Amino acid sequence: MVQVFLDLFVFMAISKRIAADYPWTFDNDLFGGPDFWGLVSKTWRMCTVGQLQSPINIDPSRLLFDPGLTSIVIGHQQIEAEFRNAGPLPIVTVNDTNGASGQINVTGGPAGPYNYRLHHVMFHFGRLPDGEMGSEHTIDKVRFPAEIQLLCYNSDLYENFTQAMTQPRGLLALSFIVDIGDASNVELRKLTVASQSITYKDSVTTLTRFQPSGLLSNIRHYVTYEGSLTYPGCYETVTWVIMNNPIYITREDQTEIKQPNPVFMGPNYRPLKPLNGRLIRTNIDVKYESRSAGGTCPSNIYLDMGYRSNPRRLRNASRDPDKRDLAKHLSLETIDPLDSIENFDFV
Ligand SMILES: *[C@@H]1O[C@H](CO)[C@@H](O)[C@H](O)[C@H]1NC(C)=O
Ligand SMILES: *[C@@H]1O[C@H](CO)[C@@H](O)[C@H](O)[C@H]1NC(C)=O
Ligand SMILES: *[C@@H]1O[C@H](CO)[C@@H](O)[C@H](O)[C@H]1NC(C)=O
Ligand SMILES: *[C@@H]1O[C@H](CO)[C@@H](O)[C@H](O)[C@H]1NC(C)=O
Repeated sequence: MVQVFLDLFVFMAISKRIAADYPWTFDNDLFGGPDFWGLVSKTWRMCTVGQLQSPINIDPSRLLFDPGLTSIVIGHQQIEAEFRNAGPLPIVTVNDTNGASGQINVTGGPAGPYNYRLHHVMFHFGRLPDGEMGSEHTIDKVRFPAEIQLLCYNSDLYENFTQAMTQPRGLLALSFIVDIGDASNVELRKLTVASQSITYKDSVTTLTRFQPSGLLSNIRHYVTYEGSLTYPGCYETVTWVIMNNPIYITREDQTEIKQPNPVFMGPNYRPLKPLNGRLIRTNIDVKYESRSAGGTCPSNIYLDMGYRSNPRRLRNASRDPDKRDLAKHLSLETIDPLDSIENFDFV
């Protein structure tokens, strides 16, 4: 009898350990893929049972215009960070042991009234040699080449990321869609070069002058919703902010992210999760002409605003030097709805 209890105890101890460092992956053909995340550990249950999960498809016809959403403010310092091949994906982790100068604060917009602090940056991409798309969020069902996510924790309420990730208003994620253009974002180019020295799982390199704000383009306009981490344990503590303006990388720089280690290969995005009635708010200032003449419908729900993402058109515009300025601003809000529907790029 005692032996049975002992065996049980040993078994429980072992399974607890296994769960804690279970080697999860984004590949659903493997045990450890997204469909299994919620099953291998009790602390990852939300991955299976959670109803406010991420990522989601952003449906432009379901956005709620909220003019009260102010600009997001992010610290501009250069900091020291660790760039690691974590296996499923590359991660840059901020070294914030250097006091205030090493802290990237994020405030304003949906962060308010709290102060958040950048903790790590994650990179999601497709299978690069095939040019497969790999963004986690899709916009009007369009998946883009890549997505960069800046994960921040609420430093007003919590000690650190680990504590904040399971708590109310714990995390804020700033997300950037990456598209193919004719010039690479400078900070992103530095990272693609650095990625060559971390081709093997668990290899690490130190970035001494990483400037997270250099990854950002125009952050004035965005959409925001309440969701979850897109990796285990999928805690529903994340306020997501998806920027309206993509950042660019050249095709050549994109394929420079070479990995001989197949574990590290894309695609590394989590499959889409249902919206389940959540609000998606935006401060994108849409030039909207009401079709119900007389304006008898005093609603701020833009039922028919019809702006669309159109990556092909963006690409064309940025290739033509005369249109480059336009391309900078040519994002969701300035694409004429009727024009874009016929050029639609469903993936
Ligand atoms: C963070 O920076 C400090 C001081 O530069 C250094 O001693 C420490 O090893 C770094 N930590 C990591 C995880 O790189
Ligand atoms: C970040 O915000 C904290 C207050 O939450 C402040 O003490 C710190 O100085 C700020 N850091 C920078 C670099 O602005
Ligand atoms: C995070 O903060 C909590 C609460 O103060 C502490 O118990 C825990 O050890 C910290 N974790 C890390 C990784 O620093
Ligand atoms: C993009 O450019 C190609 C080649 O110049 C052209 O055939 C195509 O129609 C353009 N697409 C759009 C959406 O303008």
